[in-house]
Amino acid sequence: MVIISPSLLSCDFAKMGEEVKRMEDAGAQWMHIDVMDGHFVPNITIGAPVVKSLKKEMNSVADVHLMISDPLKYAEDFAKAGADFITFHVESDSDPVETINKIRELGCKPSISVKPKTPAETIFPYLEMVDMVLVMTVEPGFGGQSFMADMMPKVKTIREECERRGLHDMYIEVDGGIDTNTISVAAEAGANAFVSGSAIFKAPDAKVIISELKEKASV
Ligand code: DX5
Ligand code: ZN
Repeated sequence: MVIISPSLLSCDFAKMGEEVKRMEDAGAQWMHIDVMDGHFVPNITIGAPVVKSLKKEMNSVADVHLMISDPLKYAEDFAKAGADFITFHVESDSDPVETINKIRELGCKPSISVKPKTPAETIFPYLEMVDMVLVMTVEPGFGGQSFMADMMPKVKTIREECERRGLHDMYIEVDGGIDTNTISVAAEAGANAFVSGSAIFKAPDAKVIISELKEKASV
């Protein structure tokens, strides 16, 4: 199944609850929440209290993307706030195995992410332990950047390795610059969960664009 996860980073923060509802009504199954600490990435966004408030309004899956230096320290706050998936970066300062175990113990689905310059093989030791791999298709930090098509071989390598190991249910999520053109390329490479911020929130009709994204990703 194709999963569309609108990135709330591109929504009007004054209307976040309404925007979540608008996205759900338009057919989005997950909500992507970008958490940035101004240290791992140069930007600061939102923290666990905001996720907690949003979750009360949410019927969709809370897809929390931690772009922070110490995800092990903060995983519990986000789990308590209602995160379903917790994605952290392999490039962070936390030990990946400890972080994955902690997220699992907290009752959430662990997911590991790679920045553009990090090779696919870096996350191979953790594949059996996670429910999702997030491949960044822009440098993390800001919405509205251009899709890096040169990340597609990485998506393909990770999908092939998952298949080789019998991990057929693995979600491979792509994040950054996903629109109605780039989504097909990412789906062909093996992605099945798609974050899209500016393309969805800029569109005049969310239902139309989400339907189109789903259709273009069905390979
Ligand atoms: C970037 C964030 C993305 C971003 C995607 O650091 O992780 O989730 O909001 O936004 P678009 O789709 O505009 O590239
Ligand atoms: Zn993200």
